[in-house]
Amino acid sequence: MRNKYKRYTITSALPYANGPIHIGHLAGVYVPADIYARYLRLKGEDVVFVCGSDEHGVPITIRAKKEGKTPQQIADTYNALIKKSFEDFGISFDIYSRTSNKTHYETASDFFLRLHEKNAFKVIESEQYYDEEQKEFLADRYIKGTCPKCGFPDAYGDQCENCGSTLSPAELIDPQSMLSGSKPVLKKTKHWYLPLDEYEPWLRQWILNGHKEWKPNVYGQCKSWIDQGLQPRAVTRDLDWGVPVPVEGAQGKVLYVWFDAPIGYISATKEWAEKTGNDWELYWKDEETRLIHFIGKDNIVFHCIIFPSMLHEYGEFILPDNVPANEFLNLEGDKISTSRNWAVWLHEYLEDFPGKEDVLRYTLCANAPETKDNDFTWKDFQAKNNNELVAILGNFVNRVLVLLNKYYGGEIPERGELYDLDKELIAYLEKAPEIIENSLDQFKFREALANFLELARAGNKYLAETEPWKLIKTNPGRVKTIMNMAAQVVANITVVGEPFLPFTSSKLYDFLNLGKLSWQDAGSVDLLAVGHKVNKPELLFTKIEDDEIERQIKKLKSTALENNTGKENEIAAVKETISYDEFMKMDIRIGTVLEAEKIKKSNKLLKMLVDTGIDKRTIVSGIAKYFEPEDVIGKQVTVLLNLASRKIMGIESQGRILLAEDKDGKLIFVVPEEGIDNGSMVS
Ligand code: 2FM
Ligand code: ZN
Repeated sequence: MRNKYKRYTITSALPYANGPIHIGHLAGVYVPADIYARYLRLKGEDVVFVCGSDEHGVPITIRAKKEGKTPQQIADTYNALIKKSFEDFGISFDIYSRTSNKTHYETASDFFLRLHEKNAFKVIESEQYYDEEQKEFLADRYIKGTCPKCGFPDAYGDQCENCGSTLSPAELIDPQSMLSGSKPVLKKTKHWYLPLDEYEPWLRQWILNGHKEWKPNVYGQCKSWIDQGLQPRAVTRDLDWGVPVPVEGAQGKVLYVWFDAPIGYISATKEWAEKTGNDWELYWKDEETRLIHFIGKDNIVFHCIIFPSMLHEYGEFILPDNVPANEFLNLEGDKISTSRNWAVWLHEYLEDFPGKEDVLRYTLCANAPETKDNDFTWKDFQAKNNNELVAILGNFVNRVLVLLNKYYGGEIPERGELYDLDKELIAYLEKAPEIIENSLDQFKFREALANFLELARAGNKYLAETEPWKLIKTNPGRVKTIMNMAAQVVANITVVGEPFLPFTSSKLYDFLNLGKLSWQDAGSVDLLAVGHKVNKPELLFTKIEDDEIERQIKKLKSTALENNTGKENEIAAVKETISYDEFMKMDIRIGTVLEAEKIKKSNKLLKMLVDTGIDKRTIVSGIAKYFEPEDVIGKQVTVLLNLASRKIMGIESQGRILLAEDKDGKLIFVVPEEGIDNGSMVS
């Protein structure tokens, strides 16, 4: 079938510039995207592969406030770190841009204006929380309060991290501004909304009828969003960091980060085109261009529903032809978490394992979470290196090159009469690229990688069956054929392996003393001419010993933080001043925990019966992650007695046990230095 596309625009999710890249990002997005881009280039396709830092949004402003820096400084730091680590890891972006640059501001602004001029937006006034002390509207993440669903006292305005419910700030009980600690007030503000509800029939047609070939996880998520009924989405925010809303009456407002970020793909393409003398519009507006977005599953709605709606409303633009989103990668059986520092960071891996970029690329591709969440373990990493890369691929290549040098001074010998084993190998080699190609065309990268390794397995099997080292004395003519064939397998591995293992492929080109070939060259047993001289090989892969793996596991465990409260985002501001009288209103006493039990359906809450010296009362506290019931029974604690009682998970909690919390969210009891009678006052 003739390819109906003339060129490809490949995008991979723009990483937020407020933290480094970890293996979850790589396995889900960047490794598959890079394999795909390299594969297409190798086929001679016209490809632009774009990425860059996503530098707007609230988390960057939170981090900046916490570190006493500007958001731009934070973005500069991480943009540089991420860009370098991608480069060192061989991710072959044609451009790695950033959303804080001039081209992007202009592009995003113009995009908004065009939609505004087309009257696409609805301007809606609503009441939102406002911090009167800081004189700022509060982003959802800046508001904390009690979760209305589970009673967790530290839920955020957009989500409760205890029960996982999605919340809106208005639902929080006792909301509190995280900027000043004050109680926020509701204040009117207006925003520009993209009327997704109006695009629903079009989206239904375009995705649900037109893109049934999308991966089931992607199609399913889109269907569920559309079937639930789409709502208008605000695309502006009251914030001082981002692209200013370019219309009258929008002072102090910026574009919502998810409005400007995907436009970042277009801005990056523009920049690339300018630098390389290309026409960016061909890559975004020509029907013969195939647009593909590589993302993780948390980005599906933005890339399949919101951004396409924006492009559709704008007109002129092509739409994504496919969005091969992946699920998530776990680490050692646990969710990867930046706040808990439960991650393998790319820049650290590159330092700890110099020269082993391809080992990680291989492991992550072999474990890519394509259809379901998957797990990375250091033991499996070691096994994949030792049992597959060293024992199968490295071993085959090494044997062939060593024997070629030993028997023929490195020159490719001629082939003589072909036997069945040779013919079978030729037949297999001829169809191998197509098998791999089929998998790649369907975004089945794990399958493609497994089929790639088959080449080396087939090579090993061929050597084991033909045993040239035994025949060299008795039948040297036959050995020439065998070694020619084996060398051709190495050459095929070199070509076809490039998208998966670019560092290895480049070494192999050197070993084989071969100029770069194209994908279409693969499948042949004439890649190396008779008489062509190959070089002496070095080891392609080396064994990874147990102690290296143990070091990594230890490092992971010892640097992991204990919980995941997101406290690293919290701004430790001094609370508002209270009077002496207000302080004296608090009745704080020493008590003893008599009974304690876990609360079903909550992994954070312990229910305790406390002897306060005055009465015995029930108090619910969010400490179950740190303390087992038996740890606290019999313990003296400090209790705020006259706190209004409240229901938590259906249990009336009467008072509060005082705890100290460090910046990582670790909790410890505030206790009297020595034992003292229950009921003793604290002031
Ligand atoms: O989820 C994320 O990490 C986002 N920064 C991805 C943005 S993708 C695109 F739209 F820019
Ligand atoms: Zn909750």
